[in-house]
Amino acid sequence: MPLVTTKELLSHADAEGYAVGAFNAINMESAQAIIQAAEEENSPVIIQVTQTTLAYTEPEELAALIFALVEKAEIPAAAHLDHGRTFETIVQFLRLGFTSVMMDGSLQADGKTPRTYEENVEVTKLAVRAAHSVGVTVEGELGRLGQIGSEISDAEAEHSLTDPDMAAKFVEETGVDTLAVSIGTTHGLYKGAPTIVHDRLRLIDDRVRIPLVMHGGTGVPDDAVKEAIQLGIRKVNIDTQIRVAFYAAIGDALRLAEKEHAQADAAGAVRKYDVRKLMKPARDAMRDAVRDRIRVFGSSGKASGITGF
Ligand code: G3H
Ligand code: ZN
Repeated sequence: MPLVTTKELLSHADAEGYAVGAFNAINMESAQAIIQAAEEENSPVIIQVTQTTLAYTEPEELAALIFALVEKAEIPAAAHLDHGRTFETIVQFLRLGFTSVMMDGSLQADGKTPRTYEENVEVTKLAVRAAHSVGVTVEGELGRLGQIGSEISDAEAEHSLTDPDMAAKFVEETGVDTLAVSIGTTHGLYKGAPTIVHDRLRLIDDRVRIPLVMHGGTGVPDDAVKEAIQLGIRKVNIDTQIRVAFYAAIGDALRLAEKEHAQADAAGAVRKYDVRKLMKPARDAMRDAVRDRIRVFGSSGKASGITGF
């Protein structure tokens, strides 16, 4: 099936009150796992590549793989640039044919130094102008992700939460289609259960009439995610949960292989090496992790309701 835009997917999600999972792919097996999971759940899906992955693989290669998988898939999928840090990266992914891009304007190109609000607006407006000229969806970001009660104090975390009035102003000034908000989540594994500030999310959703995005989806308790979806979250980003599933499965497969090698050694037989015996269980584990999230986000079975599917 042809790629669709995130805007198309999230407007259906908005109408039906669910969220679409956005899952990070870094190689063939993770990309296959994401699409397999969505097909098995008959669910729309967003397959995304984050800017830091570009240090690992050429975007053209990963894009070609993703486009081939989506072309064959029987479910609607968008291809999204996650955490794009520069206007140049945005243009690169527009040229590749991605149907959705995130201009992560909250941080400078180094991914660490905060941008000012004005700098964020300026670079995001540029990204919106370029992307909208070719029909591509733009996600913006306001606020700095931070787990409440972890390294940063509650006061600092409170300060990092997205301000509803600033959010409304930002959406108005930039024209973004979706907005990543800071409501207590953070990337990676949490130290203890995160506190999702649903009251703040409700205020943001009241002020901002576009779909909202939750980053740092791994480890957010299911009921907290579901409550956030009722309050306007329409895209939930998941990366770490896929990595954890990969590590666990490939660790088991390696231990099994070592046992078989020991048996071969003991029997004076020749050891066998088959990488597929490591990668297939890892791919299956990643697929199951994605299916698990799709069910929680409520998008299972929703593919058929989206035009043309
Ligand atoms: O942009 C990607 C997500 O925010 C990843 O968050 O690794 O905590 O699932 P996560
Ligand atoms: Zn993120």
